[in-house]
Amino acid sequence: MSANVLIIGGAGYIGSHLTYCLRQRGYRTFVYDNLSTGHRELVTGPFIYGDVLEPERLEDVFASHRIDVVIHLAAKSLVSESLAKPLFYYENNIGGTLNILKIMLQYGVDKILFSSTASVYGSPKQIPVTEDAPLKPDNVYGFTKLAIERMISDSSRIHGFSYFVLRYFNAAGADPEGNFGELHIPETHIIPRILDVALGEEDHIVVYGTDYDTPDGTCIRDYIHILDIVDAHIRAIEWLLEKKSDGTGLALNVGSGKGYSVLEVIKTAEKVTGKKIPIVEGDRRPGDPPRLVASYEKIKKILGWEPKYSDLETIIETAWNWHKGRRLEIFRPKRGSFTYTK
Ligand SMILES: NC(=O)c1ccc[n+]([C@@H]2O[C@H](COP(=O)([O-])OP(=O)(O)OC[C@H]3O[C@@H](n4cnc5c(N)ncnc54)[C@H](O)[C@@H]3O)[C@@H](O)[C@H]2O)c1
Repeated sequence: MSANVLIIGGAGYIGSHLTYCLRQRGYRTFVYDNLSTGHRELVTGPFIYGDVLEPERLEDVFASHRIDVVIHLAAKSLVSESLAKPLFYYENNIGGTLNILKIMLQYGVDKILFSSTASVYGSPKQIPVTEDAPLKPDNVYGFTKLAIERMISDSSRIHGFSYFVLRYFNAAGADPEGNFGELHIPETHIIPRILDVALGEEDHIVVYGTDYDTPDGTCIRDYIHILDIVDAHIRAIEWLLEKKSDGTGLALNVGSGKGYSVLEVIKTAEKVTGKKIPIVEGDRRPGDPPRLVASYEKIKKILGWEPKYSDLETIIETAWNWHKGRRLEIFRPKRGSFTYTK
């Protein structure tokens, strides 16, 4: 299928893989990103530098190109930062989405795919988590995503556009060719942090909480390979493009259905890299649920999607290949040059 896709936040980890894969499939893409956490070097195809909080600049994109579908990945997504700077998060994530929706309406663009998160469930009682679990985020970041989900579904009913919300669990792994991968500065995600230790960039990894009610006492998470996430997006876009816009949409989990503890991830990383990863036991972090594992039954039923690349070894092998390879060319010159305040 061919269509014009605007990928807002397409210079980041997920967006850069997605843009590349969409272009491989013949989609025409435009990436719009303020590079606050993204990287110009990771963008394939046309790139427009801009902020979602600059409506005039964003409007220019819609005025100059026919857009068939918007993929909205642009967000601030660090839980601890969201607790320290709530207004910044509400402004960037919710305010930015408001601008996007208003401009889409103005230009008659009636399809949107939005990146949401398992954080909308907070600390779920039932594992695996299904989409009808209570939506009770326990941090500001999760609240912004839930508010956006509501903003999209409420306005689509009235204005008649179609939407798809994908609630990702822990995105992980990298392009098997090693050209794209995860590069958040600062990095808070566990697999790249462990790989920093394997590479000798850090001395140890801190394990936050070793007394949870789990078999080895550490938190259990659902890691989903980036290529599986990309596949879910492509299926969701095809669903949106085939469908007549009718003011309805779906919110579906994207997870592997398997859970690994922090210690299991560290052991697998030791095996893959052949390096010892020293650990330091730290306190629990507020708002960290003991287990977060997805049910993917609904997305399997609706889109025929199933995880194909999400076994832990494949995730860590592809992440390691990127981490010690191309990532360093991009990261080393930028180290220390990023600020996270506005
Ligand atoms: N990585 C994960 O495990 C994960 C899990 C669940 C949900 N998500 C969501 O997926 C999306 C992408 O995540 P990611 O890991 O690729 O993060 P990322 O930080 O690598 O990508 C986000 C991109 O959005 C851009 N951006 C942020 N604010 C912007 C603004 N005001 N205007 C324009 N561009 C802006 C950044 O520069 C960056 O390129 C985010 O919405 C995130 O909340 C990610």
